[in-house]
Amino acid sequence: MDLISTDTLTDAQIADILDSADRFLEDNRSGRVHDPLTGRIVFNLFYENSTRTLMSFSTAAHRLGASVITLPVEHSSVKKGETIEDTARTLNEMRPDVLVTRHGENGAPARIAAIMDCPVINAGDGTNEHPTQALLDAATIRSRFRRIEGLKVAICGDIVHSRVAHSNTKLLARLGATVRLGGPEKLVPEGAFTVDEAIEGADVVMMLRVQRERLEEELGDAPGEYLRRYGLTAERLARASPGAVVMHPGPMNRGIEMESAIADDPKRSLIALQVEYGVAVRMACLELVLA
Ligand code: NCD
Repeated sequence: MDLISTDTLTDAQIADILDSADRFLEDNRSGRVHDPLTGRIVFNLFYENSTRTLMSFSTAAHRLGASVITLPVEHSSVKKGETIEDTARTLNEMRPDVLVTRHGENGAPARIAAIMDCPVINAGDGTNEHPTQALLDAATIRSRFRRIEGLKVAICGDIVHSRVAHSNTKLLARLGATVRLGGPEKLVPEGAFTVDEAIEGADVVMMLRVQRERLEEELGDAPGEYLRRYGLTAERLARASPGAVVMHPGPMNRGIEMESAIADDPKRSLIALQVEYGVAVRMACLELVLA
């Protein structure tokens, strides 16, 4: 099976991934290696930059005993004009056991999956989907609150360009949370809230990066203006519920989306835990697609 969107996962599969991730998180902390994927080969094919997603997929594969091969796309035949389809056909003939891919174009992982004989996992496509991010965020929230159902989640920032917002909104709502989107008027869909409105009473405040590389025209904000008007300051966070936690999928622009002190507050910030669940959830996803 492929994992292109969480939409195709059953409720039971989602529950399984979240439960396995709790166990894998402890295993990864203690460096325990499992070997269900010994002899399997994982290909990473990332057409867009990545730190967390790429490294956590690789770590996850190694912890399960698999071998990982990452194509350095910048130095590959992609730069000689090879199409996505031809690259996929070529890689398919090498018989990997799973292919993990990220691409700037919406739908590219699905096109690759249509060619590959092995399972394909979407590690983020354009502004469309980022299913493993949504799963790791759900696992992180659940580990803190012991539930997702009934929680109020505010997702704030550049919503229109965010595959993270898109995938999270769907998955968290499916798991029973109420999701409110907020951000600058130019960066949110119709019907969204202001940042202040979205944060009001929220249990979880998830801030997103302004994806300046995807903007058609510059925001034109003066230095410090974004944080003051739309970012997470202590003053704004005071509107959230008293025990509210703060999340960010990364990469974070300190002092723009969020005051640095909030990001580093061990009582409120789940940002480091998100990274840990990134490995654990991807272990669970690799196991699921290869089962
Ligand atoms: C995000 C992405 O690439 O979709 N990062 C991530 O995977 N953790 C968000 C972003 O680039 O801002």
